[in-house]
Amino acid sequence: MMEELNGRFGIEGQVVFRAGPSGVFVDVENDGARAMIALQGAQVVDWVPRGEAPVIWLSRDAKFAEGKSIRGGAPVCWPWFGPHRSELSFPAHGFARTVPWEVIETRALADGSTRLIFRLKGTEASRTQWPHATQLENHITVGKTLEVDLVTRNFGNESVTIGQALHTYFSVGDIRKVSLHGLDGRPYLDKVDGFSRKIQGGEVTFAGETDRIYLDSTGDCIIADPVLGRSIRIAKRGSASTVVWNPWDEKADKMGDMGENGWLEMLCVENANAADDVRSLAPGAEHHLWVSYRVE
Ligand code: BG6
Repeated sequence: MMEELNGRFGIEGQVVFRAGPSGVFVDVENDGARAMIALQGAQVVDWVPRGEAPVIWLSRDAKFAEGKSIRGGAPVCWPWFGPHRSELSFPAHGFARTVPWEVIETRALADGSTRLIFRLKGTEASRTQWPHATQLENHITVGKTLEVDLVTRNFGNESVTIGQALHTYFSVGDIRKVSLHGLDGRPYLDKVDGFSRKIQGGEVTFAGETDRIYLDSTGDCIIADPVLGRSIRIAKRGSASTVVWNPWDEKADKMGDMGENGWLEMLCVENANAADDVRSLAPGAEHHLWVSYRVE
């Protein structure tokens, strides 16, 4: 299988497929960056722009196993965000992050970056949970900037409603010293305060468990990190909600896969279609949830 994948989609010195603990992994390297992507979930698990420290956080205790979500990286939550609306037995954040995807294309772009396109294959269980004629692709461009374009197409005869997020874990020096800019004045649902609706005043800072869905948020966010001495700019299209999450110490301990003090070194900023920002796709329509990350 690896020989076939490398024969069809490998790019010498740039894209290499290899067997890993939970299936196939892809190593990408070019003049701008290096990255690692798990085929299960089409999940970026590492992205290191040249000359920078790693931008994406991966838990030291991340479990790599078939059908299990990986703690860290940039998981794809789809076709719903959070718990399913009516079926409590369905997996939180949908099934896209725990099923195999197939490779559709790899390409060396003229600007030196590398484009990889993956398509969700689904399983019997996922087809039962989501009996709709939709197609989901993840278009990942690795370079000095990391771009991810989640493309949902509705091939069915009825409208479908999707919720989703790119649940990215960013690596930070010390969460207690980080500030997140770009959400001033935005309303948010505060999950740690019974989903009460509040308004953000100024930048977001972190002093305890934080789990919020910011609404009407379409602009860039910037993670300002004085410890690592860098800012990460997060841009998006096709999303008007932003989830900001850090479980803090107690919850992280209970989760069992965050690694010792891992919560101190991560922040999730998730460009989403969550809460009232779910999207309805008419027959034949497609929706792009596009994000880009860049160190400044
Ligand atoms: C966030 C949610 O997006 O994901 C949190 O807002 C949740 O409530 C977190 O705890 C992690 O989810 P999971 O399913 O990966 O443990």
